[in-house]
Amino acid sequence: MKNDKIATALEAQIHACDVLGSPLTKAVLEICLNDFLTDGIVATLTRGWAGDPLDDNVPLRLAGFIHFSALGGDAGLRPHFASCGGTFQAQGKDALARAVLDCFTRHEADARRFFRRTPQTNETGRTGVLLVGFSEIARRTGLPLNLAEMGASAGLNLLFDKFHYQIETANGSLSWGPRDSALTISSQWRGASPPPLQSDIEIAARVGCDLFPVDIGDAEARRALEAWVWGDMSERRARLLAALSIADNAPPKLVRADAAGWVAAQIMNRPRGQVTVLYHSLVWPYLDVSQRMAIESSFAQAGETVTPDTPVAWLKMDHDHVRSFSHLSYRLWTGENGPEGEHVFIGPCHPHGADLELRDVFAES
Ligand SMILES: C[S@@+](CC[C@H](N)C(=O)[O-])C[C@H]1O[C@@H](n2cnc3c(N)ncnc32)[C@H](O)[C@@H]1O
Repeated sequence: MKNDKIATALEAQIHACDVLGSPLTKAVLEICLNDFLTDGIVATLTRGWAGDPLDDNVPLRLAGFIHFSALGGDAGLRPHFASCGGTFQAQGKDALARAVLDCFTRHEADARRFFRRTPQTNETGRTGVLLVGFSEIARRTGLPLNLAEMGASAGLNLLFDKFHYQIETANGSLSWGPRDSALTISSQWRGASPPPLQSDIEIAARVGCDLFPVDIGDAEARRALEAWVWGDMSERRARLLAALSIADNAPPKLVRADAAGWVAAQIMNRPRGQVTVLYHSLVWPYLDVSQRMAIESSFAQAGETVTPDTPVAWLKMDHDHVRSFSHLSYRLWTGENGPEGEHVFIGPCHPHGADLELRDVFAES
């Protein structure tokens, strides 16, 4: 029996693609919807989906497989994908439809295998916002950073100090980081005057955890990471490819772990003479209540044990829940500011890091 929730999920994602500006992904999903409604290969592939197709991102998995196949060399698909050197044009939609349905039909088993992957990106644009937090924590403690990222995906944001930054602010442009970096991150910081950025942020160590860490040395995993970035989103793709080229020379250390338990271990084993910065971007909405409570209680325990030479910071560029806005904030326990530490709300931001609305919180700290 056909699952009508699939059609609803496809319609919702088609609308989202329209709003987010991806005509190509919108067209791919419209093709999937038409085929589903006429009981074609898409209905065969999605029949009996066990969970909720919208919550499980079934439309993104369908579009992801098509992009994955284009990147893998599918000759019918490639001319429509900017990521493969092609262009999508509305008058080419019939040819795209033939290529999409042909791809699903010829590679049904591969498609089913691909659908088991969780849609998973790694957006380096977010470092254009996180940078304020890293710099402030370094400035306030005067210590090297021991970076520990929860939900790190491929770990690309652990390499933030290897990127160059061009930031537009209320006081004019500023730049930070190596000028010869393969990756330049652009962002806009509005609102209050930004704090002076530390010219040199020393990174003592960096490690990330993820339930599904992406091994960029594995060709399929790498291609899947590329495939989750929509095929006509050229700026995001360029950022990803540049960051991957940097990570190839200095692969970040990643472990497969649930953040809930991992955070406690990072806090317990933190080194002396460094500030341990536990941070996350766009991870909090994916955690359930018990995982969030485990993380919160690990930080509460840190507040009880912290000393001036083992400070801890919790840096978030995240939503509190799915329907709230993204924001940047941190809590810092210095060993001299009590078990609650100090919470600093820096401001709301774009979920990909394109802008940050700075609050006036820097003068007094
Ligand atoms: C939207 S992605 C964000 C990835 C990265 N932080 C970024 O900003 O690009 C969310 C990540 O959180 C990971 N994740 C979800 N639940 C997790 C958990 N309980 N423990 C560790 N990682 C988790 C997912 O596997 C995924 O890689």
